[in-house]
Amino acid sequence: MNILAIETSCDETAIAILEATDTTFTVRGNALYSQASKHAEYGGVYPNLAKREHQHNLAPLTEVALKQAEMLNKGTFTFPKNALDDIRDDAFRSSIQTFLEATDAPDIDLIAVTNGPGLEPALWTGINFAEALGAAWNIPVIGVDHMEGHIFSALLETEKINPELQETNSKTKFKLSPFNFPLLSLLISGGHTELILMHDWFSYELIGKTRDDAVGEAFDKTARLLGLPYPGGPHVAERAAEARTKGTEKTATLPRPMINDSSCDFSFSGIKTAVLYLLRNMGEITDEQKNDVAREFEDAARDVMVAKTRRALETTRAQTFVVGGGVSANTHIREGLTALIADEFPDTALYYPHHSLTGDNAVMIGIAGYLRHQKGAVSTNQGLQASGNQSLVA
Ligand code: KG4
Ligand code: ZN
Repeated sequence: MNILAIETSCDETAIAILEATDTTFTVRGNALYSQASKHAEYGGVYPNLAKREHQHNLAPLTEVALKQAEMLNKGTFTFPKNALDDIRDDAFRSSIQTFLEATDAPDIDLIAVTNGPGLEPALWTGINFAEALGAAWNIPVIGVDHMEGHIFSALLETEKINPELQETNSKTKFKLSPFNFPLLSLLISGGHTELILMHDWFSYELIGKTRDDAVGEAFDKTARLLGLPYPGGPHVAERAAEARTKGTEKTATLPRPMINDSSCDFSFSGIKTAVLYLLRNMGEITDEQKNDVAREFEDAARDVMVAKTRRALETTRAQTFVVGGGVSANTHIREGLTALIADEFPDTALYYPHHSLTGDNAVMIGIAGYLRHQKGAVSTNQGLQASGNQSLVA
């Protein structure tokens, strides 16, 4: 089965083409454009800019991905006139129309598109695009939850395939790891911080979540206070690592909010506010001091996540534990969680996403869409709704 996957929930425009057989997925095409540098001057994602950028890039990226997949057949194609009825923006409509008129319907069986959670104007762009292609090419469209994509992204192992192919970077093959339920997931991104238990396929229970900021957001805000660029997570991590390598003296101290509280909930806004006051008191700071604050922030965030994961594993007795979302790229946090599992929960299987899948991408959306489809989820090619606050545990 061939899947075209579309991700536009935030500031990454991503298109992937996957060939799925049972539990193996070959990435035949993968085109991703990150708008992060465009949002940098706002210090966060600016929804209308995100929407415009998605509109501008979706058709060209789809063309790139189809070409990589050797599925781009140029010709003169006629399609039902009403396929573009829902596309109200003139420039967006004409870019889709130009693309469709020159491209034969590819050998795709299913279109998977993120329908939430995320920024609604951005989500709508992907949905409208998916439904236009679905109507023009007569292919069913399935809506995918972005967080479910992050969960499955952790369960993919790369298959060793022909090294020549890997060198040309054209094909990566992923296999879904065999795992046992219940599966606990720690989802840590720019918009979410939650512990979710999957009892069985697609049956979820909320174990804990942030009461204020997401951990990625706290990384980004701390970075901003330290004068580091957006998105700040990787920059804070780099500074923190420098402090550890150099053995920089520890002077900064930050709180670990809710660490001893009996719930599995988190709170990160207090750490960020503490960073603000700390820096105010420090006045002009040296690079070394900046590294020290970054290290202390990362330690504080990690301590809280380790403590809450411990509590969640004790209460749920999950057999599998996965970490997903942009912050799962963080090496120091991974090390803390890995040590927790090794020392205290040796019978729990632990999975992290492949480095190419930690951030937002369309591969995970295609895989989640395929798994839903295999388990009988309905697809349509009209009528999907963007749902900014959608939750797996609604
Ligand atoms: O999942 P994601 O790409 O987008 C959302 O769905 O939000 O997550 C983005 C977040 C940003 O806050 C970014 O700063 C953070 O992930 N991030 C990191 C690292 N890499 C990305 N945070 C800490 N350490 C990292 N290495
Ligand atoms: Zn994400």
